[in-house]
Order: sequence, then structure tokens, then C-alpha cells
Amino acid sequence: MISISIIVAHASNYVIGKDGKLPWHIPADLKYFKELTYGSPIIMGRKTFESIGRPLPGRHNIIITRNSEYNNADCAVVFDFQAALKEASNFAEKNGSSDIYIIGGAEVYKQAINFADKAYITEVHADFDGDAVFDMLDISNWKEISRDYHANETTDLSYSFVVLTRISK
Ligand SMILES: NC(=O)c1ccc[n+]([C@@H]2O[C@H](COP(=O)([O-])OP(=O)(O)OC[C@H]3O[C@@H](n4cnc5c(N)ncnc54)[C@H](OP(=O)(O)O)[C@@H]3O)[C@@H](O)[C@H]2O)c1
Repeated sequence: MISISIIVAHASNYVIGKDGKLPWHIPADLKYFKELTYGSPIIMGRKTFESIGRPLPGRHNIIITRNSEYNNADCAVVFDFQAALKEASNFAEKNGSSDIYIIGGAEVYKQAINFADKAYITEVHADFDGDAVFDMLDISNWKEISRDYHANETTDLSYSFVVLTRISK
């Protein structure tokens, strides 16, 4: 059984991005993201891909766009969310991956939420200005299974790694 997971870091006010970038720099969160997603298919919107600026190594990068001429030699490019799930499932089956990760951004999370079985959420414990916002989960459909609080190494920003599983779809 392949699990579909959302992975997101959001501020206390649910902001996830500003001007196409992450509003914060939390090295431990980037490490956590890498450890979880390594070896798996990752699905992202075209804007998130361009904000990262390159395919993430060691993962099957799947970009969703409505632009039929969009092309990237090192990534799979698909034209709707269902096609992204299909591409990810095919890769996962062939390569023995148990997880598909939805890595953003806001527009893609919105579509993914009804398909996800699991959510890896980094709660950044501060408000931020931004133009991309994560839609709050309907908590009655989700159960928190773990929560680990951390203080950032270099700043006074604290954050928690929270894992939730879906109770019902
Ligand atoms: N904090 C976090 O964890 C996190 C994670 C990821 C991203 N972010 C931030 O989020 C922001 C980007 O989010 P965003 O909502 O603006 O953009 P996005 O979701 O990354 O990408 C949106 C684009 O994806 C394509 N797309 C989305 N749904 C589609 C569909 N059903 N069919 C075909 N194409 C589809 C379209 O591309 P075309 O315009 O090419 O048609 C659309 O413009 C950035 O600031 C980024 O840094 C934060």
C-alpha cells in the first residue's frame, strides 16, 4: 500500500511562502525534509519547482503545470493533479517506495488534501508576512500521532515536527 503524504512547514498564521521563497531558514527542517523524501516521488507545482530552481537529487521530481510546452529533461512534467498521482504511483511501484510526497505549494496542497493519508507538518512558532498560505486541516478528520518541539540552533525561532494521519476521507 502506497501512502500519500503532504509535507509542509507553516507559520502560526499558516503562511508558507513569500515572493516565491520560504520566509524562514531552518536548516534542521531542510534536513528533516530531505531524510523523509529521499528515494521517493515528490509532487510539486511549477512555481515551487522554479523557486527551488533545480530537481531535488535522489527523488523522482514531478512538476504540475497547465503549460503544455513546459519541459524539463530531469523531471516528469504532468498537466493535472491526477496525472501527477499516477506518475508517482508508477514510480513508487517500480522502485519499491512506500510513500508519495506532496511538497507544495499552496495551490497544490489545496488539491492534495483530499487524497492524503498522512501529513508531516512543521509548525513554525511565529507569524510571518507572506503571499502563499496553507489551508488549515479539518482537524476532525486527522489524528496527531507525534509532536517534537525544537528550538532553532541559530535564532530564537522555535518549531515543532508534527505528524498526523487521516481518520476518515
Ligand atoms: N513552507 C513550505 O513547506 C512550502 C512548500 C512548498 C512551497 N512553498 C512556497 O509556496 C509558494 C508557491 O506556492 P503557489 O501556491 O504560489 O504555487 P505552486 O502550488 O507551487 O504552483 C502553482 C502552479 O502549479 C501548476 N498547477 C497547480 N495545480 C495544477 C493543476 N491542477 N493542473 C495543472 N497545473 C497545476 C500551475 O502552473 P502553471 O502556472 O505553470 O500552469 C500553477 O500556477 C512559494 O512561495 C514557495 O516558496 C512553501
